[in-house]
Amino acid sequence: MLKKLFGRKNQSNKDNESENFSDLLKNIDSENMPRHVAIIMDGNGRWANGRGLIRSAGHTAGVKALKRALNAAIDFKLEALTVYAFSTENWKRPTAEVDFLLKLFSDYLEKELNEMDQKNVHIDFIGRVDGFSPGLQAQMDDARKRTENNTGVRFTVAVNYGGQDEVVRVAQALAREVKMGSCQPEDIDAKLFESHLDTKGLPAVDLLIRTSGDMRLSNFLIWQSAYAEFWFTDTNWPDFTKEDLAEAIVDFSKRDRRFGGLSNQK
Ligand code: FPP
Repeated sequence: MLKKLFGRKNQSNKDNESENFSDLLKNIDSENMPRHVAIIMDGNGRWANGRGLIRSAGHTAGVKALKRALNAAIDFKLEALTVYAFSTENWKRPTAEVDFLLKLFSDYLEKELNEMDQKNVHIDFIGRVDGFSPGLQAQMDDARKRTENNTGVRFTVAVNYGGQDEVVRVAQALAREVKMGSCQPEDIDAKLFESHLDTKGLPAVDLLIRTSGDMRLSNFLIWQSAYAEFWFTDTNWPDFTKEDLAEAIVDFSKRDRRFGGLSNQK
């Protein structure tokens, strides 16, 4: 509906629309803004295919879209942005594509860290980071340490991440604590469980965005998205703009979130 309101014909219109949506955001009551936005950045391959390019070109364009999304998150003063960059299942892809993605990730950190730091971004990583090369792990450690005192958006990159894997790791950690006697089975509740998740300290996901038309969670933040609002778009990730993020947020701000209770509006 909002798309119709603002028209969506070409790129120059898009710039105006972006301003319109940004203006709209200023009018949204801060209580209706999502604190934590999570994005499944899907469709890099389809974007490339549609242009007769190889898949890696789609991933390279995907990095540019990621930069745009982070800058938009900063402009919109989001508290947290979490993106799905590499899943535990992505190892099934051809070695050349996996290698390309990991190199892209490493280059991204090398090129963008200074700017992110200057923009007060607090960067972190979730997933089995120990599955990566020592060099890449050192880069992630460096990025984490350099930005840990930054007070701006908390930008979390999920790498070698799977939601079920994360939940299993928490179960194992709690089982170890019970075995050692430092906690009892009946002490385990949602709060204790959450304090063992990779995302500890982050608010729950309010708004979950997935690009490229598929409507599934794909093992992303399965615990944290228990009450998330979902927003899907047919746009492939490399074409995702600040305006798209604004549109998702405006849509979110109109949802009636009941968390299993009754509506506030009735
Ligand atoms: C999904 O597209 C995207 C990925 C599996 C990787 C996401 C990676 C990026 C956006 C760029 C790299 C990120 C960083 C942090 C450097 P797909 O390949 O599954 O697309 P398809 O479904 O159209 O084939």
